[in-house]
Amino acid sequence: MNVLVIGAGGREHALCHLLARSPRLGKLFILPGNAGTAALGVNIPGDANDVGLALSVARREGVGLTVVGPEEPLALGIADAFRAAGLRIFGPSAAAARIEADKGYAKQVMRQHAIPTAEYREFSDYGQARKYISSRDEPLVVKAAGLAKGKGVIMCADPAEAILAAERILRDRVFGAAGARIIVEERLVGREASLMAIVDGHTILVLEPAQDYKRLRDGDEGPNTGGMGSFSPTAFLDQATLRQVEEQILVPVVDALVREGVHYCGVLYVGLMLTPGGPKVLEFNCRFGDPETQALVMRLRSDVLDVLEAACDGRLDQMELTWDARSALCVVMASAGYPEKSSPPAVISGLPEGPSDDLAVFHAGTTLEGGRVMATGGRVLGVTALGETLHAARARAYAVVDGIRFEGARCRRDLGLEAHRT
Ligand code: AMP
Ligand code: GLY
Repeated sequence: MNVLVIGAGGREHALCHLLARSPRLGKLFILPGNAGTAALGVNIPGDANDVGLALSVARREGVGLTVVGPEEPLALGIADAFRAAGLRIFGPSAAAARIEADKGYAKQVMRQHAIPTAEYREFSDYGQARKYISSRDEPLVVKAAGLAKGKGVIMCADPAEAILAAERILRDRVFGAAGARIIVEERLVGREASLMAIVDGHTILVLEPAQDYKRLRDGDEGPNTGGMGSFSPTAFLDQATLRQVEEQILVPVVDALVREGVHYCGVLYVGLMLTPGGPKVLEFNCRFGDPETQALVMRLRSDVLDVLEAACDGRLDQMELTWDARSALCVVMASAGYPEKSSPPAVISGLPEGPSDDLAVFHAGTTLEGGRVMATGGRVLGVTALGETLHAARARAYAVVDGIRFEGARCRRDLGLEAHRT
């Protein structure tokens, strides 16, 4: 079967790496892909958000399954367009992707169906937001309701900070149109964890827990990023908590969507705060996590093509996932300016030859230029290793990281050292 993967990041390279292992894979196409995916299939130059281009590639190349990495094309309705054209696609419809793309919608669904989450109010008017915030005296979190590339959240220690945050988002539009509405919610305290599930509209197949490292610098310091690394499994989510998350969050939210006439096919990612009162939802994402997927891919032993196809065809109840019991650790190597600034292109040297059973270097911000692999900024590579223990995976991953060079390369040095810190 020919497969088209939409996206250009490490998550997409990792999915291609898995797909390439399937004996049923025919040709693999990636829109637009990176230097890493070019070794596994045919990169199609273009924009991941160009739904028309994706459709024409799928038709022209006889693609039997399209897999969507990022949230933006999903929110733009790529899955609706494919299904309307009778093409199989793994990813939720625009209506279902609102669970990520519109935090107001997500909060409303959770409130209506008693899914545990922080108490909140939604505002589009700055004056009203200000009045409400002034009446509170606890720490608040102010969020842009729309898609803001993971940056639209401002943590506030007191009402004065929260008023400023509301002003910046609603009035100054620091997050653009994503800030036309804001969510003001209570600040939850606890340990953060996340969980992903593959959903076919009815059946939920929960993936092994994986965790990312959000902060830029060692010791969980510095600004939030898309993720500076990840590992799997994690001990944070014990069996009882996992069951709780499935029963109190994942099942009710998928049921709630079904009752609203919204069919959810794709990955449902839930970001959680493990509070003393139980797990509460921080956010939903409508896609695989990046870089959580890089760590998980090293451990999945099932044929991913079978699983994704079964999800599209509503046959997930017949599927079972098998996992390697070993630990995986992904170390992200980013450019100097990440996450604030872009960096000039730089030659990458020291990349190891091809992937092996226990090591893969997943590309993100890379391109091929005259046979050379260039770093193009942002998150550049995800060096991902398997080991008998997290420490063994760590040793293997950093040994490879230390051999890779490009101008301005940076990475955290403390990943996998203390598994309790993220
Ligand atoms: P989100 O994109 O909504 O998951 O928020 C990004 C990050 O902000 C989360 O990973 C948390 O670290 C933090 N955050 C968001 N909402 C809350 C909340 N209600 N209480 C505490 N921290 C939060
Ligand atoms: N690593 C977090 C995310 O993919 O949203």
